[in-house]
Amino acid sequence: MQPYRYHMPTAVHLGRGLLRDVAASLCGPESRPLLVTGRRSARASGALDTVTERLPNTVVFDRVDENPTAAACETGAAFCRENACDTVIALGGGSAMDAAKAIALLATNPGRCRDYFGSGLFDTPPLPVIAIPTTAGTGSETTPYAVLVDEEQGRKRTIGGAGLFPRVALLDPELSVTMPRDVTVNTGLDALSQAMEGMLSLKSTAFGDLLALEVCRIVRRWLPRAAEAPDDLEARAQMLQAAMLSGCIIAQSGTTLVHGAGYYLTLEFGIAHGLANALLLPPVFYHNARHEPHKVAAVANILGRPAADDPDEAGAGIVNGLYELYDELGVSPAARDAGANAERLAWCAEDLYGDASRFKNQVGDFTLEDVQRMYSDAFQGTVTRC
Ligand SMILES: [Fe+2]
Repeated sequence: MQPYRYHMPTAVHLGRGLLRDVAASLCGPESRPLLVTGRRSARASGALDTVTERLPNTVVFDRVDENPTAAACETGAAFCRENACDTVIALGGGSAMDAAKAIALLATNPGRCRDYFGSGLFDTPPLPVIAIPTTAGTGSETTPYAVLVDEEQGRKRTIGGAGLFPRVALLDPELSVTMPRDVTVNTGLDALSQAMEGMLSLKSTAFGDLLALEVCRIVRRWLPRAAEAPDDLEARAQMLQAAMLSGCIIAQSGTTLVHGAGYYLTLEFGIAHGLANALLLPPVFYHNARHEPHKVAAVANILGRPAADDPDEAGAGIVNGLYELYDELGVSPAARDAGANAERLAWCAEDLYGDASRFKNQVGDFTLEDVQRMYSDAFQGTVTRC
């Protein structure tokens, strides 16, 4: 067994209407929070007004785009310091939460984002972060990571460190009812991917494995419901819970090749993060079944495809179980249907193969040919050895 440490310091509050208690329960009236959010959705849903009415000292930074850049976070941190904010509230999806963490870090530490890409490279604790997700997928509310686009290198890079765990995660299902259907589906598939990857990571733990099976069960049962009935608050609460739990898993075990390869689909073709992972899950998990058939079979079981602890059966079970779920959600398993381009994918395979960090935590060895086949399978929506 690998040695490990399990650490999850974020206080989780889950309940309908919780946002209305934000002032009383989280900050206190004297606090001067910086609220980090995107340009539109929190404003349109009224969530932004709910916070600013209850916390009149709030300063708003609403310049976070999907896939936040290091430069945007540096601007946000300067704004945070100018306004002498003492807390950072993240209101939005993974982009807002990751940007908020980077801003909280740069508000108390010198330099730029690129000085902190890596793990634990800062000395002073960041400002406390209160994470209020409006999507249900990335689990950033319970992770110590901020994933940013480093424009200088054209890559996604991660800042990590225990000080980046949000102090509080506030999960209010009323905030996610306005999420568009495609965002509901894509972010929900990110939660599924994170749970499955965490369970198969070389750094998996018993805590994470238990949570992962529960996340798979919740997503299988409730994601189709949340997609079809956006006002169903039970489905929304269940999916918020699944996302939060998936964050608890990857906070310990990290993600694997699915995320590592998925980042290319997002940066090269603009494919949404969760969908990019979903497209890579079948080929990567078919591979994983060769190394950890009992774990893959356990997930296949939950996805409704009972399989024995045998590499072939577990591999076929997981691939078919995923395809069935995608079909129910109206998601094509083929990256070509999401805008990928075969020629450019060949470049992605070579670049990915040359970057050892993308294989961190991944079981088994991959040759360049394996990576090319993985992308080609994802492109066509088939698994060739299945
Ligand atoms: Fe993710």
